[in-house]
Amino acid sequence: MSPQLASPGPSLATLRGHDLLSSADLSGEQIRALLQLASELKRGERRVDLQGKTLGLIFTKASTRTRVSFTVAMARLGGQTMDLNPSLTQVGRGEPVADTARVLSRYVDALAIRTFAQQELEEYAHWAAIPVINALTDLEHPCQALADFLTVQEAFGASAGPGDLTLAYVGDGNNVAHSLLLTGALLGVNVRIGAPAGYEPDPAVVDRASALAGNSCTIEVTHDPVVAVRGAHALYTDVWASMGQEEEKAQREAAFQGFCLDEALLAEADARAIVLHCLPAHRGEEISAGVIEGSASRVFDQAENRLHVQQALLAVLLGGPTL
Ligand code: CP
Ligand code: NVA
Repeated sequence: MSPQLASPGPSLATLRGHDLLSSADLSGEQIRALLQLASELKRGERRVDLQGKTLGLIFTKASTRTRVSFTVAMARLGGQTMDLNPSLTQVGRGEPVADTARVLSRYVDALAIRTFAQQELEEYAHWAAIPVINALTDLEHPCQALADFLTVQEAFGASAGPGDLTLAYVGDGNNVAHSLLLTGALLGVNVRIGAPAGYEPDPAVVDRASALAGNSCTIEVTHDPVVAVRGAHALYTDVWASMGQEEEKAQREAAFQGFCLDEALLAEADARAIVLHCLPAHRGEEISAGVIEGSASRVFDQAENRLHVQQALLAVLLGGPTL
């Protein structure tokens, strides 16, 4: 199919120059338009030109998917990426965020930042004159949630009505769970979190998701994984110990017994249910080898979709002309 000539719709045009710090920075309409643009980019129906633009990557934590997908996304759009790993820059020697953000704003066109504290990300955004993208913090992982819901749409169609679909997340109420709650609420997808006591999502995020959901869908938290997954259309899990929680690994393994996304839990879901995991995965811990490798699993499509949604996001935040 030949490339379309149309520009992104009005809801996306307003995002030019903006940050993406939280999943709640987008409206439901903007998320739907971003997923549509991502699908068109994926199918080769749309091209965007970011020639001459540079994305800086400031990653304080390890990454395979996010680092590579942002780098390839920029390359496919005609731009380039610069690795600003703190150990390679003066950031690692304590140069203040306020100075770093203002200097980098004179060189690069956007920053994708992976770090621990959401507050540090917000400080970069405060001082930077260019778009700042959350590439994962301890609080949220918004780019991941965009790819996840694109994968859900690919399985169940983009025209499902409010409350028609349910995504069940089983495990730690962490950064990934938070962004799923907020993005699901904005899209009108019911989100159920099944987490052990003491590992529920942040109540402030749950309240925000409930407020965003309004009457369009339901937001629920339960301590029973079977209740969480019953009849759900997408089953999701993530590691029990996130980056920075390595010392809690043994304690968490004990607390999460019964929360492995295995064949028994999958059998409780809708017959068409798909299985998602942001990866990296630990087979035999939060997910069984049979389920992650089974016919319901979409984890590699999901990982691929990081590339397409981030291409759409960069195209929109940097406002490149469509070809
Ligand atoms: N899912 C995800 O963000 O993976 P990486 O940590 O490899 O970037
Ligand atoms: N919750 C995980 C996600 C990794 C992509 C972590 O923060 O380590």
